[in-house]
Amino acid sequence: MAAIPTEPRHVAVIMDGNGRWARHRGLPRSAGHQAGLEAAREIVRQAPQHGIQILSLFAFSSENWLRPKTEVHALIRLFGQALEQEIDRLVQNGIQIQFIGDRSGFPGRLQAAMLNAETVSGDGKRLKLVIAVGYGGRWDLCQAARMLVRRVRDGTLPEDRIDETEFETCLATGGLPDPDLFIRTGGERRISNFLLWNLAYSELYFSDTLWPDFTVAHFEEALNDYRGRQRRFGRTPGQVRCGRQA
Ligand code: IPE
Ligand code: IPE
Ligand code: MG
Repeated sequence: MAAIPTEPRHVAVIMDGNGRWARHRGLPRSAGHQAGLEAAREIVRQAPQHGIQILSLFAFSSENWLRPKTEVHALIRLFGQALEQEIDRLVQNGIQIQFIGDRSGFPGRLQAAMLNAETVSGDGKRLKLVIAVGYGGRWDLCQAARMLVRRVRDGTLPEDRIDETEFETCLATGGLPDPDLFIRTGGERRISNFLLWNLAYSELYFSDTLWPDFTVAHFEEALNDYRGRQRRFGRTPGQVRCGRQA
């Protein structure tokens, strides 16, 4: 185990602050979401050049359904448009897309577009882009628990074989390595129900910059900060420096 991490393999981002960005400009919140989309596009473009293999973006939480209907509709519309406009370019750039979250609340057309994006981008090798929509960490834990119960009931999983590895396979993120680095923009210092299981040992980085203003330079600052961390996973600094496991 390396004492000082070099580049994070998996970066997870809560892209927060779109609404405030718009308010500061006297614009509707939807304009902030549009500007946020542009910031996301640039970070996705740059991520592979920084050795990142997986980029997870929180686009719409299970709790965001509680926002005013007009904002929810604007977000759904923007999401659909963005998917339609970006998909060819993403595929050409070798980006594999995976959506995580409860899709059932979204219009059928958007659900179909998500499935199509996952299918056509399936061979992408440069970057895996995980987009969390209708996602909540608690939702994911509950649906994993239900899946485990079904497997125990149908006899394919003995109860005493339920361990962390088995549990993890039932999560929407099953098979993905945990995020090495978690970034939240917009000034709040909270997880807001993102990747509750997966962030157990992630390095946390909070930026006061509102998401639409978050440039590649800000992103590089976060990566730089990460390089200075010592990841111990419960061990002592001495153990980690020696690269020993015990
Ligand atoms: C994040 O920005 C985008 C979504 C949650 C969809 P916000 O819309 O939460 O922006 P603020 O936090 O109100 O500024
Ligand atoms: C988290 O931001 C969700 C997304 C960025 C998609 P919120 O703005 O919804 O989080 P809270 O409500 O401030 O915790
Ligand atoms: Mg917010």
